[in-house]
Amino acid sequence: MEEKLMKKLEAGALNFEAYFSEKALGMKASEIRELLKLVETSDVISLAGGLPAPETFPIETIREIAQEVLEKHADRALQYGTTKGYTPLRLALAEWMRKRYDLPMSKVEIMTTAGSQQALDLIGRVFINPGDIVAVEAPTYLAALNAFRYYEPRFMSVPMDDDGMITDILEEKLRKLKAEGKKIKFIYTVSTFQNPAGVTMSEERRKKLVELAHEYDFIIVEDNPYSELRYSGKPVKPVKHFDDEGRVIYLGTFSKILAPGFRIGWIAAEPHFIRKIEIAKQAIDLCTNTFSQVIAWKYVADGHLDRQIPKIIEFYRPRRNAMLEALEEYMPEGVKWTKPEGGMFVWVTLPEGIDTKMTFEKAIAKGVAYVPGEAFFAERNVKNTMRLNFTYVPEDKIREGIKRLAEVLEEEIKG
Ligand SMILES: Cc1ncc(COP(=O)(O)O)c(C=O)c1O
Repeated sequence: MEEKLMKKLEAGALNFEAYFSEKALGMKASEIRELLKLVETSDVISLAGGLPAPETFPIETIREIAQEVLEKHADRALQYGTTKGYTPLRLALAEWMRKRYDLPMSKVEIMTTAGSQQALDLIGRVFINPGDIVAVEAPTYLAALNAFRYYEPRFMSVPMDDDGMITDILEEKLRKLKAEGKKIKFIYTVSTFQNPAGVTMSEERRKKLVELAHEYDFIIVEDNPYSELRYSGKPVKPVKHFDDEGRVIYLGTFSKILAPGFRIGWIAAEPHFIRKIEIAKQAIDLCTNTFSQVIAWKYVADGHLDRQIPKIIEFYRPRRNAMLEALEEYMPEGVKWTKPEGGMFVWVTLPEGIDTKMTFEKAIAKGVAYVPGEAFFAERNVKNTMRLNFTYVPEDKIREGIKRLAEVLEEEIKG
């Protein structure tokens, strides 16, 4: 029977492609994931991934909490929950954000999501009409571009420097649009320790961004998975802190401060926005994983989160330092890179004319992998950049990886 079926399938009985929607036909697998498949099997040092180090997962704490949850809260934890999320967790997060970020939470509501990635999709669903202009940083988080793309916006890129998005350039662009009778729907920013660039928007620019949102009437989506991972420098308040109109939709996640496998993120925004996003989520998954949420609630409410963050920082800081030192030591002239005070990534810029997609295979041959930068730009118009991750690989491997990469780049620059 099985053989018969196989034969039928092989004979191409169905034209599978013909059944997909036009939108599905337009979807493409993330290039990075495709590239990374090349790396997984070999002994290449991968500075390409974006994963937290598994050594930072608080396994014992999770074991204890899970045990307690099953003993005392199984009726809630194993049941469907409300779409907005497990209320004790939502309250604990509100309190944690108030304390941690000095955020006035009284007018803000929190809902939980399946990671902040789901929040990005929900935001696309709720706010983007085809043709709407969505402003993004250049470069920006690739999977946000992909989540939004499904809803067919037009992207407007805003360049960055070491202080994050250059708000003066944004202002110029907004002014031009206004002269044409147009405006943007929202701006998406990864405000702190940006993925992929590693830079942080200055406080001055945060204030300016909120002012511009008021003046030109748009909303701000602030995606903040990394701000707790600070290895040096002074903390900055989220953009949301400077928002007194309800224009900022804030996204948080447990992925980098607990473990990404829990798939829990949250949205903190005006109740009006939350209500609509909640309706959109209902049709997708009814509710976020309840068992994970109850564990996350205990993790926050019992103070484990506050105790865990310094441990993660101590674990990553030497890795960040090792990468910055190795770049300094090995990189040839003409190569520039960002110096992140936190997060997971360093962004490298090579001399004009070098295409990091073309050098990728040479790097693999030398035993090191990175992510070519092109896909992080909405217009895919910048070729000479790359993203390096410093959280997953130990210090000695980071040093060796950078040394190998520097050799490849030196040859490339010499031509
Ligand atoms: C900027 C940014 N936003 C969102 C996400 C998605 O995170 P989550 O695991 O919460 O879905 C990531 C993950 O790497 C990210 O870097």
